Amino acid sequence: MYTKTLAAVALAAQGALAYPWVASQGGVDSSLLRRQTPGTGAGSAAQCPNNPNHKGAEPITAKYPYNNAKNGVPGNGKGGFLVPAPGDTAHQFVAPDYSKDIRGPCPGLNAAANHGFLSRDGIVTFNELVDAQQNVYNVGYDLAVLLAVLGLTTTDGDIVTEKLSIGCDATTRTSFAPLLTGSEPGLDGHNKFEADTSLTRNDFFTHNQDNFKMNATLFSMMTDTTKGLYNRENLALYRYQRYQQSLVENPNFYFGPFSLLLFGASSFLYELMPSGPNYTPDVATISSFFGAEKDASGAWKFNGKEKIPDNWTNRVEPYSIFLVGAEIFQQYALHPVLFGGNTGNGQFDVISGPAGIQNGKFNATSPESVACLLFQLGTERIPSSLNSVVTPTVKALDFLAGKLAPTFKNLGCPGSLT
Ligand code: HEM
Ligand SMILES: *[C@@H]1O[C@H](CO)[C@@H](O)[C@H](O)[C@H]1NC(C)=O
Ligand SMILES: *[C@@H]1O[C@H](CO)[C@@H](O)[C@H](O)[C@H]1NC(C)=O
Ligand SMILES: *[C@@H]1O[C@H](CO)[C@@H](O)[C@H](O)[C@H]1NC(C)=O
Repeated sequence: MYTKTLAAVALAAQGALAYPWVASQGGVDSSLLRRQTPGTGAGSAAQCPNNPNHKGAEPITAKYPYNNAKNGVPGNGKGGFLVPAPGDTAHQFVAPDYSKDIRGPCPGLNAAANHGFLSRDGIVTFNELVDAQQNVYNVGYDLAVLLAVLGLTTTDGDIVTEKLSIGCDATTRTSFAPLLTGSEPGLDGHNKFEADTSLTRNDFFTHNQDNFKMNATLFSMMTDTTKGLYNRENLALYRYQRYQQSLVENPNFYFGPFSLLLFGASSFLYELMPSGPNYTPDVATISSFFGAEKDASGAWKFNGKEKIPDNWTNRVEPYSIFLVGAEIFQQYALHPVLFGGNTGNGQFDVISGPAGIQNGKFNATSPESVACLLFQLGTERIPSSLNSVVTPTVKALDFLAGKLAPTFKNLGCPGSLT
């Protein structure tokens, strides 16, 4: 049986936030269901920097076309080129001004913003996300759209303005009507896209809500475990260690269906970050993206500069939903763990459903089935920004169907979108 606490977190993670009445049901600890960033904590609107001079992403030009991905439509899907292109000063690295610019839990997006492929202030649009992933990392169009949809919907970005903060709560700048939408926590929002057992970010509840800053101790642990080769086997082992750590240290540890995405994020270290022609996920490459640097004593520290490495050549073939599904499948199989959560009294309760999870076990039979589960996750979450507006589901399902339906069909997943 669930205790109160786990039930509430589980419900939140499964989209119950879309149904505010759940919070007032007896037996549900509604404080956990509410947004976890209001107030003055880390990631809250009160601590969120504001750059009054918002400028969109630097445009992709004919002179420096990259994958020619613009306006949220498919680009060339052919990588193997230098990023940034030699001579393209618009996309050179500029360190963020942390007093004004927002950065968050995703090193891939932080680096893209530091190079102007996303708005440098960290307030980004759906189209910028879809374009940047293709132009910089050669993420396949299907996966680029899915991740952007998940970013926007799960973390309560705004599906009217299609704007999202890549870090803290910037509702005043993302929402079409803050009084109607309530707070939009951005990618820092916990148990949405961001979750426990991250590679280099703390768990939310053990570190006073700081679940988004690069923690150099964790980077060091990751580098020790992997011995500086951040490949599938080594990262799967390190994730397993992080899971054990959360199990012991975090009374509110929760590992739900969305935690499957964490295995996807791990694969980005060895599938999206390595540089051609050798494509080795080594320390020099990975530390550059994570802004990790050794100090005089040889200890890792965060230098605030998440940067595309010099002379960096992106991957040749697009990284698709199918490919990431296969990586999630294989990483999980190397060190299977239970889905569920700590209940605060030394007990771990397993969960069942959705997305092929039964009695805490992830029951996927093939990479294809994982890919289809990702779609399920993408389509089941209704953004809470619409709660108070109209019957939420109609508009949100329109949004999801419009963005995801074309790829969904191609993948041949069973079931329907509506
Ligand atoms: C719209 C697209 C994307 C969104 C919305 C997004 C969002 C996120 C979020 C919320 C996390 C935190 C997960 C956690 O709790 O650990 C994360 C982690 C991560 N992301 Fe992204 N991401 C996107 C694309 C990318 C791309 C293109 C890369 C390419 C390198 C990337 C690399 C990573 C890595 C390596 C992590 C793990 C960081 C860690 O665990 O320390 N992401 N992303
Ligand atoms: C960084 O991570 C370590 C290991 O989990 C933890 O003990 C430490 O408190 C974290 N440091 C900060 C500044 O969050
Ligand atoms: C840059 O990378 C290319 C391969 O993509 C290599 O041929 C060249 O020598 C590298 N240049 C420098 C300065 O490292
Ligand atoms: C896994 O899923 C299959 C088909 O969906 C089902 O027949 C089987 O009973 C499930 N296995 C477990 C251990 O739940």
